[in-house]
Amino acid sequence: MPVGNGTGARHERVGRSEPIHAEELNVLRGEMVILRPPCESDVEAAYEWDRDPELAAWNGRPPIKISLEAARRDYLSRWKDASVKTFILESRADGEPIGMATLYDFRNGSCELGIKIGRDDLRGHGHGAEAVELLLSYCFDVMGLNTVRGSTLAHNVRMQRVFEKLGFKESGDGSIISRFDNKRYTELFYERRWDER
Ligand SMILES: CC(C)(COP(=O)(O)OP(=O)(O)OC[C@H]1O[C@@H](n2cnc3c(N)ncnc32)[C@H](O)[C@@H]1OP(=O)(O)O)[C@@H](O)C(=O)NCCC(=O)NCCS
Repeated sequence: MPVGNGTGARHERVGRSEPIHAEELNVLRGEMVILRPPCESDVEAAYEWDRDPELAAWNGRPPIKISLEAARRDYLSRWKDASVKTFILESRADGEPIGMATLYDFRNGSCELGIKIGRDDLRGHGHGAEAVELLLSYCFDVMGLNTVRGSTLAHNVRMQRVFEKLGFKESGDGSIISRFDNKRYTELFYERRWDER
């Protein structure tokens, strides 16, 4: 799948000890979704997603309770943070924001990937898999990373399916207490390596 990075930039693969700094954000274009940098007009959508109890449960945290204005301040400062790359998933069908993906915890030539599709009726239609595929191309071909990490709850079959479809391998598991309901769950860890393409 082509990745329109806007700059044509190619980065050297990063060695183990070199720090990675988030650089210019790019627009990644797929057939169903576009991944683009967030802007102020995305605040309301992001706020709605973070208040959604179902999405919060999948992420193992409580829905946010702060006001829209407080959330706006948080988002705008987080979205400027160069150590985290945030992308809004925009539907190609109607140009609406449908979800968010983040690349974070950059270390040793790797990063962690997180993703959510905001509306339940839009899940299970291939947007998530396409977005992860675009992000993998971006991480490997543009940022020069070696490995992309991911994790999910053991009962999140959809996310596991996306990881498996995109060539991630399970790298371990752990036990976590969810901050959503204070219950213990199994978390599965995944890794997708560049040299296993
Ligand atoms: C996880 C998530 C990002 C995946 O994106 P998506 O667009 O829904 O996923 P896709 O449609 O690309 O792929 C989902 C796969 O799971 C399968 N699937 C869909 N619903 C399913 C269900 N209820 N149970 C099991 N498998 C299911 C689909 O058939 C598809 O596999 P296939 O292509 O082999 O048929 C999205 O569902 C989501 O945001 N969920 C809520 C938040 C979340 O869980 N985020 C991840 C936290 S780690």
